[in-house]
Amino acid sequence: MPRAKLLRSTPIRFALTYGLLFVFTSLAVWVVSYELLKRRLHDALDGSVQETYSVLEAAYAPDDIEDLVATMNSFVRLNANGSRVFLLTDRAGKALSGNLVHTMDGNGLTTVSAAALGLPGDERFRVLSGTIDGYRLIVGHSFAETDDLARMILVSFGWACALAVLLAFGTGAYLARRAQQRLDAIADTMSAVSQGQLQVRIPLSRSRDDIDEIAGHINQALSRLSALIESMRQVSTDIAHDLKTPLNRLKLMVEDALSHDATDGELRLLLEEALSESDQINATFDALLRISQIEAGGRKLRFYPLDLGQLVRNVIETYSDVAEDNQQSLIVGRIDDVQAQGDKELFTQMLVNLIENAITHCPQGTKIAVDLVHGEQCWILSVADDGPGIPEDERTNVFRRLYRLDKSRSTPGSGLGLSLVQAIADFHGAAITIEDNNPGTRIVLRSHRARTGAQVSGT
Ligand SMILES: Nc1ncnc2c1ncn2[C@@H]1O[C@H](COP(=O)(O)OP(=O)(O)O)[C@@H](O)[C@H]1O
Ligand SMILES: [Mg+2]
Repeated sequence: MPRAKLLRSTPIRFALTYGLLFVFTSLAVWVVSYELLKRRLHDALDGSVQETYSVLEAAYAPDDIEDLVATMNSFVRLNANGSRVFLLTDRAGKALSGNLVHTMDGNGLTTVSAAALGLPGDERFRVLSGTIDGYRLIVGHSFAETDDLARMILVSFGWACALAVLLAFGTGAYLARRAQQRLDAIADTMSAVSQGQLQVRIPLSRSRDDIDEIAGHINQALSRLSALIESMRQVSTDIAHDLKTPLNRLKLMVEDALSHDATDGELRLLLEEALSESDQINATFDALLRISQIEAGGRKLRFYPLDLGQLVRNVIETYSDVAEDNQQSLIVGRIDDVQAQGDKELFTQMLVNLIENAITHCPQGTKIAVDLVHGEQCWILSVADDGPGIPEDERTNVFRRLYRLDKSRSTPGSGLGLSLVQAIADFHGAAITIEDNNPGTRIVLRSHRARTGAQVSGT
């Protein structure tokens, strides 16, 4: 990845920020712990010097310096590495015991250099000097051991910190790279989609983490989008295809009228036919526009409480005469009292289309029954007939715009009735299914539970 892009990557920025934060924290911990430790070691050194001094001081008995001299001599003997210094002088300043040449002024604890004590090297000593009954006692301890220990701890702490920082940066870089790769996969997919490849999807990892969750939502949206685009493409192809027939018919009529010397009467007849054909085309376009308008959902504002039972009874009453004229019977089945939210005009249109279909596509003697059942938080509306039925493999096709079964080509209609029914059902949050009525067709509309537009109240 180029450096500029690398620095713009969010996971890498996170990793770098946390890495740097870790470095500063480690450095702070390192410095503070080292300082505390050094102080502790110095306190221990002071304690040890004071202890030695007290032991020597305790060895002195008034007017008897011999024991103190003997004790100091054994201390000096034991001090093979020269890390300790001792000096005992008498009242005249003459050295009685010890390994120091120079004496020192002042009392109490001080830090002095080797040179100040007349010793070679550049070591430093912690020295406690005092006077016991006129005798001067000096006890000192070199810083070399504590300094060595502190240095050793400093170095090992340093290594540990370096290792931890290295690990932090390494793991950070690895995790950042993995996250970046997954973001890149999303970016690649979206760029492919923007170039028209709607079938590509973001690959999901096995971890099912938040990136996967977002990727899953995007994939779902892409699937829905491509299904919508596919159906729109299908619809426009269907419409273009199906509208060619009436337009061709219209063209033939006009050509026919122009082609031979027709009498005024014949010409009038042809023009009337052309007018009715163009009216039919116009009606088809109106219906198509109506379906699109309903699908766009712009009419939701017209949702009011509806007495569905009453509405269904009214429609049946109106259409029972039409059915009777056609030697069919329209039967009022079980009609429950159902109150729901909806658009009265559209709901009526939906039921009318279903009843008209049964009347148009079924022979004389057919019985058509309408039921409205109040379910648990939902309603079920069905229109059933004992006519020829719709074959199972045609049950999704009949909802396509302008689609008609071959056997129905001679009946009036444009193949948009069920498309409109489906659009209105969707709009009211209801699902539509075509079932076998054995014999015949049973079209069932079932409102989804607890959805706006299909909420049900009543008994
Ligand atoms: N009750 C029914 N019985 C038999 N066939 C039906 C019934 N309802 C609809 N169909 C078939 O479904 C097709 C599509 O119906 P529709 O969309 O209303 O169009 P149209 O009624 O204008 O032909 C009809 O052409 C018909 O073949
Ligand atoms: Mg119809």
